[in-house]
Amino acid sequence: MFSKVLKWACRVLLGLVLICAITYGVFSFLFHRHLDKSYAVTVRDIPIPGDSATIAAGKHLYEIRGCGECHGADLRGRLIVDDPGLGRIAGTNLTYGKGGLSADFDNKAWLRALRHGLNAENKTLLLMPSQEFARMDDRDIAAIIAFCKAQPEVDTPNIPTKMGPVGKVLAVLGKIDLFPAELIDHAQQQPAMVVKAPTADYGRYLSASCTGCHKPGLTGGDNPVPGGPPVANITSTGHVGKWSKDEFITALRTGNTPEGKQLQAKDMPWTMTARYTDEELIALYLYLKTL
Ligand code: HEC
Ligand code: HEC
Repeated sequence: MFSKVLKWACRVLLGLVLICAITYGVFSFLFHRHLDKSYAVTVRDIPIPGDSATIAAGKHLYEIRGCGECHGADLRGRLIVDDPGLGRIAGTNLTYGKGGLSADFDNKAWLRALRHGLNAENKTLLLMPSQEFARMDDRDIAAIIAFCKAQPEVDTPNIPTKMGPVGKVLAVLGKIDLFPAELIDHAQQQPAMVVKAPTADYGRYLSASCTGCHKPGLTGGDNPVPGGPPVANITSTGHVGKWSKDEFITALRTGNTPEGKQLQAKDMPWTMTARYTDEELIALYLYLKTL
């Protein structure tokens, strides 16, 4: 009797292991289908000026668009995710030093990465939030590229990407935005120049950097980083709706909110928003008030 029960328990256990293995196999297959998809895009070439005013504008954009959070302040690259379940993903060394961009990474390659989320083989990059940069105007995108190309070479060890099983499953289920090329309208034409002014219109343009966490409608929700706190609603129906312009500026520069909360920079990157100019923060404030 006892050995019969044991036999059945073993069979059930084996069955479960088999089901798990098959399920993981299916997810792994689907994951690679996303990775292997090739995109036929026409990268529109634009001039990249190299003057010092453009490079200075590019430095500011590099900081406020969050490039440094993943590629490092000096562009040397950074390990962003390192977890046995999620995987290991590093922001590329964006200089032309060892472990960085190859010598043939030209302006078109920069534009392909930033506006289309694609690598040299026209396949999607991983985790690089190009969907937030795809609509930036020609002047801004050219300034960022000019700044990056003007930085000194840094040598770093190359950290190959390795996705873990949990990371693959979350990406296939669409719980993390891992495949930027899938989130971009590749046929869109970006404006040559948006007007920079303290207006809601300019605020909408800037808010692309907030949508990755606060969601496209900026109403917040689940944190895109597994285990992170819920992301706040920053439309007029949330706390921001009750804040004055000055309170908003203080909150985004110090992390202190009028409700007495200290936002943690690792959850809400206020060290990045602290670098926005007054004009940029006012524009964001005015835009959020319209939502
Ligand atoms: C959330 C993190 C994150 C942010 C923010 C980010 N990147 Fe990336 N970026 C990555 C990762 C990860 C890769 C490597 C992707 C890969 O190898 O598939 C990458 C790759 C790149 C590449 C190399 C593409 C290639 O073909 O090798 C360029 C160029 C680049 N990023 C530029 C930028 C610039 C400029 C900004 C800011 C406007 C920026 N990135 C912001 C994570 C980020
Ligand atoms: C990396 C993810 C991330 C990005 C990018 C991000 N936020 Fe946040 N933000 C959060 C999280 C998470 C919270 C909630 C933190 C908490 O509750 O401790 C938050 C909270 C806030 C708050 C406080 C809201 C409240 O009710 O107290 C404001 C205001 C805010 N974010 C504005 C912005 C703006 C504006 C941008 C774009 C320029 C932005 N955030 C970009 C993750 C992000």
